[in-house]
Amino acid sequence: MCGIVGYIGDKRAADFLLEGLTKLEYRGYDSAGIAVNCGENIFVEKSVGRLDSLKDKLKYRMPGGVIGIGHTRWATHGRPSDINAHPHTDCNKNFVVVHNGIIENYMPLKEELISRGHKFISETDTEVVPHLLEEVYRGDFVEAVREVLNKLEGSYSLVFMSKENPDTLICAKQDNPLVIGLGKGENFIASDIPAIINYTRQTYILNDGEIAIVKKDSVKIINRRGEPVDKKIFHVSWNAEAAEKGGYEHFMLKEINEQPKAVRDTMSKRISKDGTKILLDELNWDKDFLAGIDKIYIVACGTAYHAGLVGKFYIEKLARKLVEVDLASEYRYRNPIVDEKTLVIVISQSGETSDTLAALKESKRLGAKTLAITNVVGSSIAREAEQVIHTWAGPEIAVASTKAYTTQLILVFMLALYMAQINGTVSEQRARELIGLLKKIPAQISETLSDVEPIKTFARQYGFNEDVFYIGRSLDYCVALEGALKLKEISYIHAEAYASGELKHGTLALIVEGVPVIALATQKSVYEKTLSNIKEVKARDAVVIGIAAEGDTELEKYLDHVIFIPDTDELLIPLLTVVPLQLLAYYAAITRGCDVDKPRNLAKSVTVE
Ligand code: AGP
Repeated sequence: MCGIVGYIGDKRAADFLLEGLTKLEYRGYDSAGIAVNCGENIFVEKSVGRLDSLKDKLKYRMPGGVIGIGHTRWATHGRPSDINAHPHTDCNKNFVVVHNGIIENYMPLKEELISRGHKFISETDTEVVPHLLEEVYRGDFVEAVREVLNKLEGSYSLVFMSKENPDTLICAKQDNPLVIGLGKGENFIASDIPAIINYTRQTYILNDGEIAIVKKDSVKIINRRGEPVDKKIFHVSWNAEAAEKGGYEHFMLKEINEQPKAVRDTMSKRISKDGTKILLDELNWDKDFLAGIDKIYIVACGTAYHAGLVGKFYIEKLARKLVEVDLASEYRYRNPIVDEKTLVIVISQSGETSDTLAALKESKRLGAKTLAITNVVGSSIAREAEQVIHTWAGPEIAVASTKAYTTQLILVFMLALYMAQINGTVSEQRARELIGLLKKIPAQISETLSDVEPIKTFARQYGFNEDVFYIGRSLDYCVALEGALKLKEISYIHAEAYASGELKHGTLALIVEGVPVIALATQKSVYEKTLSNIKEVKARDAVVIGIAAEGDTELEKYLDHVIFIPDTDELLIPLLTVVPLQLLAYYAAITRGCDVDKPRNLAKSVTVE
């Protein structure tokens, strides 16, 4: 997620802008920039890389103006570079904008503006905004901004600055956070409270559709129709550290709760307006390309590997292509059977995992076609692969991967359906049905997040056990593996995931009275078999906690506790099943007093072998 700051008052704006951006560094970014209205002109300076690079550029040339905006960029459209860094301006640097989010209709807007003579210099979606403002501005800054906003589709928090209006900053909020800090003779703008908490605790938290007209001694809030909005002041009681986590106790809990938005963002722009097609313009594959592929490998580590296991199901079920999934650390040394008819898909949140990068390079050496699914634009893996599609989860700070996993599932599902539509292995009607259910997933994740009490209770009751088993069949087994990893890596409980049908081949010997077993039973196609496995462990007096789809009235007859998740197609339900397992791991770690965000022995990005 990008970081935004703005200042208007009597002091040197650049001082607050740089300090505010420094407070937002924790969010992760790849470039930064500021713009200050100096009266005669608007000063703009940007730099790829860390904030220090920007500060170095400003060392002997800090602008003196008292109104400015700043930005730290997390790239989604356009690689990290000085040019792509924000702020962005119109042709004549009369208007400057910083943006957080995704403007979904930027391409047609950009093409239209270019046809009318506008000159673009960056690869970003954001740059269309100042040029649109230049196009519609007739002297009324607020009206012009409103007219621009009516042309935009997608998610955005935007701050506008105009050379001709040196006493005003205008903010607009849609889906991405934006806060106004209320000072004395000065006002502050930020995407996140940590940037302003040292200056004021009196804030307006903007809601979707609201526009703030910020002057140094007044803040007026209107809606998109221009009508005044009566806004309550929100007093920030958090300390600075808590503010970085948006009020959540840990980054992990914040990121678990960010999943509805992360999933929605990752889907955005990738579904046709009529809801019938998956659009992966980054790939542009056709029947001939797929006909040239006789085998697909999915290669990854950890959570990304678990997403790959789900991806296998999706691609084989929908696109009817053979898929092998492998751990990167194994694949890279096994002299895999790979040639020019092999497609190797690597999945990596960080895009820097050493084993996955090495597996990718080995695949290219052997002649394979390569595709990367990663969350970091411009990462080593993104640059090494022939093709790349990005999850748009925003920075994931906690070591335990949560929103990266669910957005990886979304992308592998969309990739499978995209391939199926090219190959004609899924009917139009089935594709429309699946896409309709896919679009409901963000709201269903929110629903699943809305009732954490039963999960907290289990975590308190069983958080001190030293062994926990997760069992499931089919896609439930894939998610069980992810649930077990979550519990292991942050609560240090020895958790093991097992294919339910495999229990009788050994592991059942460990299932004795009181052993907690998390039984996933959402896969309708194997439900009866799953139920009989659950009865097997129940018969040995294990404590069984079921995860079932709403409407399942059978499981409760046999289990002590059942956590229900919203029902959907069995292919999509892993996106919901994983949420209670993430929360169970989180609250178990809290129960045991573990360092949730930075568990022992682990790093967020394993850049060594
Ligand atoms: C997941 O919770 C772990 N932090 C770890 O397994 C992680 O998924 C793995 O190291 C792969 O990282 P990557 O996705 O950045 O490549």
